[in-house]
Amino acid sequence: MKVLFLNGPNLNLLGQREPEIYGSMTLADIEDMVREHADRHNVEVVFHQSNHEGELVTQVQQSAGDYDYVILNAAAYTHTSIALKDAIVGSGASAIEIHLTNVHAREAYRRKSMIAQACIGSINGFGASSYILGLEAAILHNKAKH
Ligand code: DQA
Repeated sequence: MKVLFLNGPNLNLLGQREPEIYGSMTLADIEDMVREHADRHNVEVVFHQSNHEGELVTQVQQSAGDYDYVILNAAAYTHTSIALKDAIVGSGASAIEIHLTNVHAREAYRRKSMIAQACIGSINGFGASSYILGLEAAILHNKAKH
């Protein structure tokens, strides 16, 4: 099984960015943690981060052929990007939405996700563990299919 972890804007700043909200782990730390978990389950993972909406759209489109699942922390684009939602629907990508923080317990504008409707499901609020839980969700979803 192949899984693409796609990370949106400002997630390259994890570790230094509002650590009281997002924690002290960098994206590279999270990637290491996920990779260890993925190896134990024989899952191939690729991590990618972009600050650009169009780049994320292209990655989602391409993931549909190459990956079994795309686990997407679209960051702020979650709340604004119809283009990302359309990319998931249009490409038929099997997407899982994840967030480090509980977006429903924060500012009102974070409660709306433009992409949720196009995703299998979403996980938020567990810090870096949201990435592991996202991977677990993909593994279990894949098992249920076979
Ligand atoms: C986030 C939540 C978003 O609202 C925010 O814009 C982010 C990170 C999270 O992982 O908690 O950049 O996606």
